[in-house]
Amino acid sequence: MRKHKRKQFFPYSLPYPGNLSFPDKFIWGVSTSDRQITENIDRGLSIWDAFAMISGKIEGGYDPRITCEHMRYYKEDVALMKQLGAGAYRLSIAWPRWQSEGLGQPNQSGIDFYDRLIDQLCRLGIDPWITLFHWDLPLELECLGGWQNRDTAKRFADYVFSVVSKLGDRVKHWMTLNEPNIFAFQGYLSGEFAPGKHGAWLAAFRAVHHLLLAHGMGMQVIRQASSDAKVGIVVKMLPVETLSYSPLAHASAHLWRMLGTSWFLDPLLRGSYPLPVRGIYDAMSAINRLGRHSPVVRAGDMEIICPKKRMDFLGIDYYFRQVINFLGQWRMHVPGSQHTAMGWEICAAALARGLIRLKEEYGELLPIVYITENGMASDDVLVNGQVNDQQRIDYLIDHLIAVLQAIAAGVDVGGYFVWSLIRNWEWPKGLLKDFGIVYVDFKSPERTRTPKSSFYVYQDVIRGNGLIYVPLSMCR
Ligand code: FCB
Repeated sequence: MRKHKRKQFFPYSLPYPGNLSFPDKFIWGVSTSDRQITENIDRGLSIWDAFAMISGKIEGGYDPRITCEHMRYYKEDVALMKQLGAGAYRLSIAWPRWQSEGLGQPNQSGIDFYDRLIDQLCRLGIDPWITLFHWDLPLELECLGGWQNRDTAKRFADYVFSVVSKLGDRVKHWMTLNEPNIFAFQGYLSGEFAPGKHGAWLAAFRAVHHLLLAHGMGMQVIRQASSDAKVGIVVKMLPVETLSYSPLAHASAHLWRMLGTSWFLDPLLRGSYPLPVRGIYDAMSAINRLGRHSPVVRAGDMEIICPKKRMDFLGIDYYFRQVINFLGQWRMHVPGSQHTAMGWEICAAALARGLIRLKEEYGELLPIVYITENGMASDDVLVNGQVNDQQRIDYLIDHLIAVLQAIAAGVDVGGYFVWSLIRNWEWPKGLLKDFGIVYVDFKSPERTRTPKSSFYVYQDVIRGNGLIYVPLSMCR
């Protein structure tokens, strides 16, 4: 690895990649998640259905029953992926569709849908990559304590075993969890996501450990059920960068790095929590012992989370960096920077720096990385049957350049998935934020789909396995 001066927190520039081609066998894909694109049929309720019913939780009042109706139009969507030239499709299985109440007998009509979808993908030569938990916990399990209850990890493993036994003949790449770091922060601290708890730090600590345990237990059963499976987890990359030095900025950046990243990647890759986090779990255990309750972290847990046979890959989702100012505060708005319709700062360079930093930090422990989500929301409109999303084109090209920079610096990146194939239900933003490279007309009963300009640019990138065939006039 090339070492960079001041690598710790300060942004530095990387050379423009001399080679605009991606490695052979680089995987090009698109991502979605079940809750964001499918209808509420053939399934039980999840924590998001309940959360969305609370007034004021979802902007514009769009609840998740209004979708692009992917169950109905899945053949059309798979045909779009084929037209794009995607080699892989990252989708999620909704646990409450597989097992309506999160346990017991699988729900046959739910299984049938995934069977049909996966057959269709295989028929068209698109490799299904499956996320097993993309935030939609069955509501019944939340009533039993959700991720604060250790049993949820065991139930997750049972569900995973059932899925892999059924689909493992056609699916080789499995992601246990999507972004446990974001799920924990937004679900237990800011309350912006289901299950909607505010400032519940102890609950967050319990939930994180049980999520990681679920990942480990899930990985065990995936390997039992399918000998050639590749297993990973998806973590949101939150590179922390300070723009000026102060002891406060330095300390705050350390804290954010630990909470946002090391709390998750240290146990997954090294088999231990960072020291201060371990201290908190130890203190919780001591209190539990006084009340004759079992500790949260038990003997043997860390070996389950990080077994000898490590996970095969790490999925990285990247959207924005965390900028820390002189006073140690996190700022979303850096003067002079551009933002997406979500208000997220656009900073492709931080993706390259973040990947390089991961490699420097974890070295050989870091498995091959796939960018499992990257993309932006914009206010797109259909004009004369076309959607011109030039800002997204620039965004994608810049982020692909960042991936090339990381590869040139020695990071093993094996693929890239755009978030998202299609306009979808964006959690608390409902239908107000559109990340799709395919536009959906929600006013039309047929949910008419129109590929945007970015779709065609991405198609060119995939065809050329690089940026060489993308006319520069389209990039800038
Ligand atoms: C990620 C989520 C994904 C989508 C994008 C915009 O954090 O995994 O479902 O909402 O953000």
